[in-house]
Amino acid sequence: MTNVEIPTDLRNALDAELAAIPSKRLASATVALSERYRSLRPARGRLFLNSDEDVAAYAAYRMPATFAAIFSALVQLHDQWLGEPPRTLLDVGAGPGTAMWAAQTVWPALEDLLLLERDERMIAFGERLAVRANAPGLRGARWQQTDLLTRWEAEPHDLVIAGYVLNELPEERREAVIDTLWSKAAGSLVLIEPGTPAGFALIRQARQQLIAAGATVLAPCPHDRACPMLENDWCHFAQRVNRTRLHRAVKGGTLSYEDEKFSYVAVSRQARPPIDGRVLRHPQILTGRVVLELCAPEGLRSHVVTRSKNRQAFRQARDLRWGDALLPEDSE
Ligand SMILES: C[S@@+](CC[C@H](N)C(=O)[O-])C[C@H]1O[C@@H](n2cnc3c(N)ncnc32)[C@H](O)[C@@H]1O
Repeated sequence: MTNVEIPTDLRNALDAELAAIPSKRLASATVALSERYRSLRPARGRLFLNSDEDVAAYAAYRMPATFAAIFSALVQLHDQWLGEPPRTLLDVGAGPGTAMWAAQTVWPALEDLLLLERDERMIAFGERLAVRANAPGLRGARWQQTDLLTRWEAEPHDLVIAGYVLNELPEERREAVIDTLWSKAAGSLVLIEPGTPAGFALIRQARQQLIAAGATVLAPCPHDRACPMLENDWCHFAQRVNRTRLHRAVKGGTLSYEDEKFSYVAVSRQARPPIDGRVLRHPQILTGRVVLELCAPEGLRSHVVTRSKNRQAFRQARDLRWGDALLPEDSE
């Protein structure tokens, strides 16, 4: 798995913001947040950010990992995107602006960015980060204090992203919010949640709702049929991310990275370029063959690529990673 690094300008901006807070206060806010985070999820992910230290702690503790997950999902969407790249972005429940930084890394031409967020401290923090961005699109992003549970207006945008937000909404209001988000997506709507059974359950339900509303799934699924995932399993992916110093101190571990697990769905109004399957587990690379666990158009299946049958397909299969699409030309 290739490690993801947050962009240098974002890292510098984060370092500058975090340096403004006495390190002991930041460390204790981060420990408290990580405990709340662990004990509250997956039941209800509300984080209760009550102070500037809490917001900074959230950014220090979670932003690199959520950046990595959103980035990874968007890379898969990028590979399925047909036509002009997106130029406009609507990021809802934007927090410190994580999704816009990830989206701008994938689509540098993004130029019109609108971020909706309820928490004014988050907005202030995110704006201070964005001021230090290299990309003019990020520096020019507009932030709007908005509660997604009230009526809100926004023009349709090429790309709409809700990262780690659905689990913070009351269950009975989620469907209506998802409908509204879909109505604002001129190109694609991307929903990302933690890669837990609860996070996946939200994604699966949203996927079903969106397909019923006429959406096509661009990623990760190779079809729009009912999700074939078995009851005791959940569709999720993982992105390795380098830990920050503070992160390591808080987690008390020595590892310089962590694997952020996430579930996601990206839907669109355009047709889906065909793929032969999505790799759902780390591929098993054995002597002379690669075994892939796939979600394929016909359902879940194992796919074995043998060197003796097709050298080229074998070489390509050896490079596939968990989460990648198996393209028709990669199949035997
Ligand atoms: C876990 S954070 C995720 C932030 C960001 N999307 C990311 O991936 O890092 C969830 C964010 O959603 C915001 N949020 C929760 N409920 C909301 C609502 N009803 N309206 C607007 N924002 C909301 C929270 O304030 C918080 O900033």
